[in-house]
Amino acid sequence: MSVYLDHAATTPVRPESLNAYLEAQSHFGNPSSVHAQGRQTREILEQAREVLAEAVGCHRSEVIFTSGGTESDNQLIKGLYWSRQDRPRKYILSALTEHHALLDPIHWLEKHEGAQPVWLTVDKTGQPDFAQFQQLIEELGDEIALVSLMWVNNETGALIDLQKFSALAGQRNIPVHSDAVATFGHLPFKFSETGLTAMSISGHKLGAPIGIGASIIARSAKPVSLIHGGGQERGLRSGTMNYPLAMAFAQAASAAVSDQVEREHRLGAMRDRLERELLKTIPAVSKTISGPRIEHTASFLFPGAQSDSLLFLLDQKGLCVSAGSACQAGVLGASHVLLAMGYSEAEASSVLRISLGHSTTEADVDTFLGVIEEVYSTALRAGLNR
Ligand SMILES: Cc1ncc(COP(=O)(O)O)c(C=O)c1O
Repeated sequence: MSVYLDHAATTPVRPESLNAYLEAQSHFGNPSSVHAQGRQTREILEQAREVLAEAVGCHRSEVIFTSGGTESDNQLIKGLYWSRQDRPRKYILSALTEHHALLDPIHWLEKHEGAQPVWLTVDKTGQPDFAQFQQLIEELGDEIALVSLMWVNNETGALIDLQKFSALAGQRNIPVHSDAVATFGHLPFKFSETGLTAMSISGHKLGAPIGIGASIIARSAKPVSLIHGGGQERGLRSGTMNYPLAMAFAQAASAAVSDQVEREHRLGAMRDRLERELLKTIPAVSKTISGPRIEHTASFLFPGAQSDSLLFLLDQKGLCVSAGSACQAGVLGASHVLLAMGYSEAEASSVLRISLGHSTTEADVDTFLGVIEEVYSTALRAGLNR
């Protein structure tokens, strides 16, 4: 039996989500058809939108279903950028600690559309430099197309004071987007109170199946659509809507939001014990961040060991963990997040992320603690032989 400590990569589907999926799937019809069967599946879709809006704290018309976080990040970064080009506004303010789903659309806009990203400095607590942000807003103000900052970092768990940034940008009417894929379902908030223009969320990080997410877009914002066709989802996401997945997402979100405070508290206590005992057993190991962070994530440096050796050895013992975000095409390089926080290449290549979730038990933590010392010494020897 494997021990799964990689819930930030994806977390098991909650029973209420699976049941909702199966029940919705038992109804058949295209939600855009005008006949009775179509109207029935449209009703399921709209009910899902209502339930999700309630969990997010927004109006139902602000929920646009997508296939997940990557699609929402692309839709919102490119769509909001293009919607602001009625006059020259080429600057995008963000940070290099963002997920690739966000960084890559920005790089694409830079290469193909003349956008000019300005990257905020991030310190070792994971916080972007607010003084630098203030200065940039002052200097570039009217030429800024948008700001995008993730709320919780998926690799380190760092939690930023997002509202401070959105409030300042809001004073100048600059749209602010946040990748909240690692936030929603884990941290209480109401979208309507965040000062954000738009937010990306994803179902499979909180107990829905993979392949469903949403863009939450304030009614005042009009991002340009990336997909054209039947005009579904306010014209922003044409294509026949996947009502069973939408309902599965809504039910998972509702369940995750209703037990988030209790769950995070419980996982935080487990995470703290794991950290305490690990650092006591192996004093060479250190945490990658200090400062505010989400409760279910721990991130460590294992000096002298390569992340891929640690992952491989843990995997052999039946433990699923990760080095940061799920690696791209199976290739594990240094963590771009740690590099952006000022760590060296060697340090950013010796990181391990442990992320707990709704199915984690104390026994899972014990299993990890029981093998990690031996795994680390083997990984160190493997490093010497490279
Ligand atoms: C912060 C963050 N943004 C975006 C994504 C991409 O989301 P999805 O897998 O739903 O496309 C992830 C997934 O790892 C993530 O952690």
